[in-house]
Amino acid sequence: MKKNETEAAKAANYPEEDLSRLSRLLRLEKVSSGYEGTNVLSDVSLYVDKGEFVSIVGSNGAGKSTLLRTISGTVRPRSGEVRFEGRPIVGRDPADVVRECRISHVPEGRLLFPRMTVYQNLMLGAFTTRNKKRKEERLAYVMELFPRLAERSRQSAGTMSGGEQQMCAIARGLMLEPRLLMLDEPSLGVQPNIVARIYETLEKINKQEGIAVLLVEQDIHHSLRMADRAYVMQTGRIAAEGRGAELLESELVRKAYLGL
Ligand SMILES: Nc1ncnc2c1ncn2[C@@H]1O[C@H](COP(=O)(O)OP(=O)(O)OP(=O)(O)O)[C@@H](O)[C@H]1O
Ligand SMILES: [Mg+2]
Repeated sequence: MKKNETEAAKAANYPEEDLSRLSRLLRLEKVSSGYEGTNVLSDVSLYVDKGEFVSIVGSNGAGKSTLLRTISGTVRPRSGEVRFEGRPIVGRDPADVVRECRISHVPEGRLLFPRMTVYQNLMLGAFTTRNKKRKEERLAYVMELFPRLAERSRQSAGTMSGGEQQMCAIARGLMLEPRLLMLDEPSLGVQPNIVARIYETLEKINKQEGIAVLLVEQDIHHSLRMADRAYVMQTGRIAAEGRGAELLESELVRKAYLGL
């Protein structure tokens, strides 16, 4: 939504709730999506506001990764709307979405280039800028966030531990200077003390830089506690939404995920 459209809506005395919808960073409206022959997401509606930390939890196969792929445009929805700052992004080239909206997707399984060095992987994350000085400054910033990467910048990414690789994938995502950082199960295959460090860093990025975070996790304790708001996904649908800590106490989460 362009600024003047929001202004026009204000002038037309739209209800307050509609106005806040117009200014949302990311909004999905009744999105259905999937792969050839299978429907995975059904009527998914959700939003992320500027600077918000939003978590999505759900068990295996719930459609969490498909959701992130649908936002970044590698999976195209069958119906529904995906809007970034009010502008529709469905059907746009995923590379343009990255470039123009600065939505960074840290994918499940990290997908680093294993034979390339940490430095080279990180530099690829900054592909949207040619400004060398800016890239170097950004590199210094991510290395400060993850000092382990500075120590290992010449090591090939594939020879690092699971936790180090995850740090590298997140740092590569941050090289873009994202407005929205989407992370798909950063705790997967990472030892618990490193997971805690990664989460601390995510909170820092969100609070200090104001980067909105959309975190997909099976590890519901951590992710719900950290989140401003959260959604629970079950078989491709949003089964519940609310403040993270509230959801952790909810009947649905206690029964379905905590076995209580
Ligand atoms: N590339 C694909 N082609 C066809 N079906 C797929 C593809 N990727 C995922 N699916 C199917 O879509 C459904 C949802 O998968 P998805 O990976 O989005 O779930 P998830 O919530 O991320 O699960 P997990 O917690 O295991 O990562 C599953 O039934 C899966 O088999
Ligand atoms: Mg997944």
